Amino acid sequence: MIMVVLENVNKIYNEGTPRAFEALKSIDLEVSEGECVVLSGVSGSGKSTLLSLIAALDKPSRGKIAVNGELISKLPDLHASAYRAKTIGVIFQHFNLLESLSVEENVIVPLINSGFDMRTIKALADKSMELAAISHKASQEVKALSGGEKQRCAIARALIHEPKLILCDEPTANLDRANSLKFIEILQSLHDMGKTIIVATHDPLFEGLPFVSKVVHMEDGRIVKNER
Ligand SMILES: Nc1ncnc2c1ncn2[C@@H]1O[C@H](COP(=O)(O)OP(=O)(O)OP(=O)(O)O)[C@@H](O)[C@H]1O
Ligand SMILES: [Mg+2]
Repeated sequence: MIMVVLENVNKIYNEGTPRAFEALKSIDLEVSEGECVVLSGVSGSGKSTLLSLIAALDKPSRGKIAVNGELISKLPDLHASAYRAKTIGVIFQHFNLLESLSVEENVIVPLINSGFDMRTIKALADKSMELAAISHKASQEVKALSGGEKQRCAIARALIHEPKLILCDEPTANLDRANSLKFIEILQSLHDMGKTIIVATHDPLFEGLPFVSKVVHMEDGRIVKNER
Protein backbone atom coordinates (compact mmCIF):
# COMPACT_ATOMS: atom_id res chain seq x y z
CA MET A 1 0.00 0.00 0.00
CA ILE A 2 1.10 3.56 -0.72
CA MET A 3 1.25 5.63 2.49
CA VAL A 4 2.19 9.07 1.12
CA VAL A 5 1.66 10.55 -2.34
CA LEU A 6 2.57 14.05 -3.46
CA GLU A 7 1.57 15.13 -6.97
CA ASN A 8 2.98 18.25 -8.52
CA VAL A 9 3.15 20.05 -5.17
CA ASN A 10 4.21 23.69 -4.99
CA LYS A 11 4.55 25.84 -1.91
CA ILE A 12 4.81 29.59 -2.27
CA TYR A 13 5.22 31.51 0.98
CA ASN A 14 3.65 35.00 1.00
CA GLU A 15 2.03 34.30 -2.35
CA GLY A 16 0.81 37.38 -4.18
CA THR A 17 3.10 39.76 -2.28
CA PRO A 18 6.51 41.19 -3.22
CA ARG A 19 7.99 38.78 -0.64
CA ALA A 20 6.61 35.71 -2.44
CA PHE A 21 9.04 32.82 -2.21
CA GLU A 22 8.68 29.47 -3.93
CA ALA A 23 9.96 26.97 -1.37
CA LEU A 24 8.74 23.80 -3.16
CA LYS A 25 8.61 23.36 -6.92
CA SER A 26 6.67 20.55 -8.67
CA ILE A 27 7.31 17.90 -6.06
CA ASP A 28 6.28 14.33 -6.92
CA LEU A 29 6.95 11.73 -4.26
CA GLU A 30 5.62 8.33 -3.25
CA VAL A 31 6.35 6.54 0.00
CA SER A 32 5.07 2.99 0.52
CA GLU A 33 3.79 1.67 3.83
CA GLY A 34 6.70 0.46 5.97
CA GLU A 35 9.35 2.41 4.07
CA CYS A 36 11.99 4.54 5.79
CA VAL A 37 12.91 7.51 3.59
CA VAL A 38 15.69 10.02 4.22
CA LEU A 39 15.20 13.57 2.92
CA SER A 40 18.53 15.27 2.42
CA GLY A 41 19.65 18.63 1.10
CA VAL A 42 21.40 21.78 2.26
CA SER A 43 19.82 24.30 4.61
CA GLY A 44 16.95 26.11 2.87
CA SER A 45 16.33 23.39 0.28
CA GLY A 46 12.76 22.81 1.50
CA LYS A 47 12.94 19.73 3.75
CA SER A 48 11.00 21.15 6.71
CA THR A 49 8.48 22.75 4.38
CA LEU A 50 7.82 19.37 2.78
CA LEU A 51 7.37 17.68 6.19
CA SER A 52 4.99 20.41 7.37
CA LEU A 53 2.76 19.82 4.33
CA ILE A 54 2.71 16.05 4.91
CA ALA A 55 1.80 16.72 8.56
CA ALA A 56 -0.96 19.11 7.37
CA LEU A 57 0.58 21.84 9.53
CA ASP A 58 0.51 23.96 6.40
CA LYS A 59 -1.17 23.67 2.99
CA PRO A 60 0.40 23.43 -0.46
CA SER A 61 -0.19 26.31 -2.88
CA ARG A 62 -0.77 23.82 -5.73
CA GLY A 63 -0.92 20.08 -6.08
CA LYS A 64 -2.27 17.12 -4.19
CA ILE A 65 -1.14 15.29 -1.07
CA ALA A 66 -2.70 12.05 0.12
CA VAL A 67 -1.68 10.17 3.26
CA ASN A 68 -3.01 6.76 4.24
CA GLY A 69 -5.69 7.09 1.56
CA GLU A 70 -6.90 10.48 2.82
CA LEU A 71 -6.62 13.62 0.69
CA ILE A 72 -5.05 16.12 3.08
CA SER A 73 -3.94 19.00 0.85
CA LYS A 74 -7.12 20.98 1.47
CA LEU A 75 -8.21 19.81 4.91
CA PRO A 76 -9.86 22.49 7.07
CA ASP A 77 -7.89 23.11 10.30
CA LEU A 78 -10.19 21.10 12.55
CA HIS A 79 -9.90 18.05 10.31
CA ALA A 80 -6.15 18.60 9.99
CA SER A 81 -5.68 18.26 13.73
CA ALA A 82 -7.87 15.15 13.81
CA TYR A 83 -5.77 13.72 10.97
CA ARG A 84 -2.56 14.41 12.90
CA ALA A 85 -3.97 12.93 16.10
CA LYS A 86 -4.87 9.75 14.25
CA THR A 87 -2.09 9.22 11.75
CA ILE A 88 1.05 11.28 12.41
CA GLY A 89 3.84 11.31 14.97
CA VAL A 90 6.30 14.20 14.70
CA ILE A 91 9.80 14.33 16.17
CA PHE A 92 11.57 17.69 16.00
CA GLN A 93 15.05 18.90 16.80
CA HIS A 94 13.59 20.94 19.68
CA PHE A 95 11.58 18.84 22.04
CA ASN A 96 8.86 21.24 23.25
CA LEU A 97 8.42 19.37 26.52
CA LEU A 98 6.83 20.69 29.69
CA GLU A 99 9.91 20.98 31.89
CA SER A 100 8.32 20.75 35.33
CA LEU A 101 6.22 17.69 34.54
CA SER A 102 7.51 14.14 34.68
CA VAL A 103 8.41 12.09 31.64
CA GLU A 104 5.24 10.05 31.93
CA GLU A 105 3.05 13.14 32.30
CA ASN A 106 4.59 14.65 29.17
CA VAL A 107 4.08 11.43 27.26
CA ILE A 108 0.34 11.26 28.01
CA VAL A 109 -0.38 14.92 27.11
CA PRO A 110 -1.61 14.07 23.57
CA LEU A 111 -4.25 11.73 25.03
CA ILE A 112 -5.71 14.13 27.60
CA ASN A 113 -8.87 14.70 25.56
CA SER A 114 -8.90 11.32 23.88
CA GLY A 115 -11.71 9.88 25.98
CA PHE A 116 -9.60 6.81 26.83
CA ASP A 117 -9.74 5.64 30.44
CA MET A 118 -6.69 6.10 32.64
CA ARG A 119 -5.77 2.41 32.51
CA THR A 120 -5.62 2.39 28.72
CA ILE A 121 -3.62 5.62 28.72
CA LYS A 122 -1.17 4.19 31.26
CA ALA A 123 -0.74 1.02 29.18
CA LEU A 124 -0.10 3.06 26.00
CA ALA A 125 2.37 5.28 27.88
CA ASP A 126 4.26 2.24 29.20
CA LYS A 127 4.45 0.81 25.69
CA SER A 128 5.75 3.97 24.06
CA MET A 129 8.24 4.77 26.86
CA GLU A 130 9.55 1.23 26.44
CA LEU A 131 9.93 1.73 22.68
CA ALA A 132 11.75 5.02 23.22
CA ALA A 133 14.04 3.50 25.88
CA ILE A 134 12.99 6.00 28.58
CA SER A 135 10.86 3.84 30.92
CA HIS A 136 13.55 3.97 33.62
CA LYS A 137 12.99 7.76 33.91
CA ALA A 138 9.18 7.68 33.83
CA SER A 139 8.66 9.57 37.08
CA GLN A 140 11.58 12.00 36.74
CA GLU A 141 10.99 15.69 36.00
CA VAL A 142 11.97 16.59 32.46
CA LYS A 143 14.19 19.48 33.59
CA ALA A 144 16.53 16.96 35.23
CA LEU A 145 17.02 14.90 32.05
CA SER A 146 20.00 14.90 29.70
CA GLY A 147 19.51 16.09 26.09
CA GLY A 148 19.34 12.54 24.76
CA GLU A 149 16.80 11.55 27.43
CA LYS A 150 14.66 14.61 26.65
CA GLN A 151 14.58 13.56 23.06
CA ARG A 152 13.57 10.01 23.97
CA CYS A 153 10.77 11.49 26.09
CA ALA A 154 9.64 13.48 23.04
CA ILE A 155 9.77 10.31 20.96
CA ALA A 156 7.61 8.45 23.49
CA ARG A 157 5.10 11.33 23.35
CA ALA A 158 5.10 11.22 19.53
CA LEU A 159 4.35 7.49 19.59
CA ILE A 160 1.66 7.27 22.25
CA HIS A 161 -1.28 7.38 19.82
CA GLU A 162 0.38 4.62 17.72
CA PRO A 163 0.75 6.68 14.53
CA LYS A 164 1.31 4.91 11.21
CA LEU A 165 3.51 7.67 9.82
CA ILE A 166 6.45 9.15 11.73
CA LEU A 167 8.03 12.41 10.56
CA CYS A 168 11.42 13.44 11.97
CA ASP A 169 12.97 16.86 11.34
CA GLU A 170 16.74 16.97 12.05
CA PRO A 171 16.22 14.56 14.94
CA THR A 172 19.91 14.25 15.82
CA ALA A 173 20.93 17.90 15.36
CA ASN A 174 21.25 18.47 19.10
CA LEU A 175 22.57 15.04 20.08
CA ASP A 176 26.07 13.71 20.57
CA ARG A 177 27.20 10.68 18.63
CA ALA A 178 26.21 8.09 21.25
CA ASN A 179 22.70 9.51 21.57
CA SER A 180 22.40 9.81 17.78
CA LEU A 181 23.26 6.12 17.42
CA LYS A 182 20.67 5.30 20.07
CA PHE A 183 18.13 7.33 18.12
CA ILE A 184 18.92 5.32 15.00
CA GLU A 185 18.37 2.10 16.98
CA ILE A 186 14.93 3.34 18.02
CA LEU A 187 14.18 4.21 14.40
CA GLN A 188 15.20 0.71 13.38
CA SER A 189 12.78 -0.84 15.87
CA LEU A 190 9.97 1.43 14.65
CA HIS A 191 10.80 0.32 11.13
CA ASP A 192 10.73 -3.34 12.24
CA MET A 193 7.22 -2.71 13.65
CA GLY A 194 6.09 -1.68 10.17
CA LYS A 195 5.90 2.08 10.72
CA THR A 196 6.40 4.39 7.75
CA ILE A 197 9.16 6.91 8.49
CA ILE A 198 10.41 10.08 6.79
CA VAL A 199 13.54 11.72 8.24
CA ALA A 200 14.87 15.11 7.13
CA THR A 201 18.53 15.26 8.03
CA HIS A 202 22.01 16.23 6.96
CA ASP A 203 23.60 13.93 9.52
CA PRO A 204 26.08 11.61 7.75
CA LEU A 205 25.21 8.89 10.32
CA PHE A 206 22.07 8.26 8.23
CA GLU A 207 24.07 7.40 5.11
CA GLY A 208 23.96 3.75 4.10
CA LEU A 209 21.64 2.53 6.88
CA PRO A 210 20.32 -0.88 5.83
CA PHE A 211 16.69 -0.11 6.70
CA VAL A 212 16.60 3.15 4.70
CA SER A 213 14.87 2.28 1.42
CA LYS A 214 15.54 5.54 -0.38
CA VAL A 215 17.31 8.85 -0.10
CA VAL A 216 15.54 11.85 -1.61
CA HIS A 217 17.89 14.74 -2.34
CA MET A 218 16.42 18.24 -2.40
CA GLU A 219 17.97 21.31 -3.91
CA ASP A 220 16.37 24.71 -4.10
CA GLY A 221 12.82 23.39 -3.58
CA ARG A 222 13.11 20.52 -6.06
CA ILE A 223 13.78 16.81 -5.77
CA VAL A 224 16.96 16.37 -7.78
CA LYS A 225 17.72 12.75 -7.02
CA ASN A 226 15.63 9.91 -5.67
CA GLU A 227 17.83 6.87 -5.13
CA ARG A 228 17.18 3.42 -3.65
N1 LIG B 1 7.09 30.86 6.88
C1 LIG B 1 7.95 31.17 5.90
N2 LIG B 1 7.85 32.32 5.22
C2 LIG B 1 8.69 32.63 4.21
N3 LIG B 1 9.71 31.84 3.80
C3 LIG B 1 9.87 30.67 4.44
C4 LIG B 1 9.01 30.28 5.53
N4 LIG B 1 9.43 29.06 5.97
C5 LIG B 1 10.49 28.73 5.21
N5 LIG B 1 10.75 29.69 4.29
C6 LIG B 1 11.83 29.64 3.28
O1 LIG B 1 11.67 28.47 2.49
C7 LIG B 1 12.92 27.87 2.21
C8 LIG B 1 12.91 26.43 2.66
O2 LIG B 1 12.88 26.39 4.08
P1 LIG B 1 12.89 25.02 4.89
O3 LIG B 1 12.77 25.38 6.31
O4 LIG B 1 11.89 24.11 4.31
O5 LIG B 1 14.36 24.48 4.56
P2 LIG B 1 15.16 23.24 5.17
O6 LIG B 1 15.62 22.41 4.02
O7 LIG B 1 14.32 22.57 6.20
O8 LIG B 1 16.42 23.92 5.85
P3 LIG B 1 17.24 23.52 7.20
O9 LIG B 1 18.13 22.40 6.78
O10 LIG B 1 18.00 24.76 7.52
O11 LIG B 1 16.25 23.14 8.23
C9 LIG B 1 13.97 28.72 2.91
O12 LIG B 1 14.56 29.60 1.97
C10 LIG B 1 13.19 29.50 3.95
O13 LIG B 1 13.76 30.76 4.18
MG1 LIG C 1 14.54 22.33 8.25
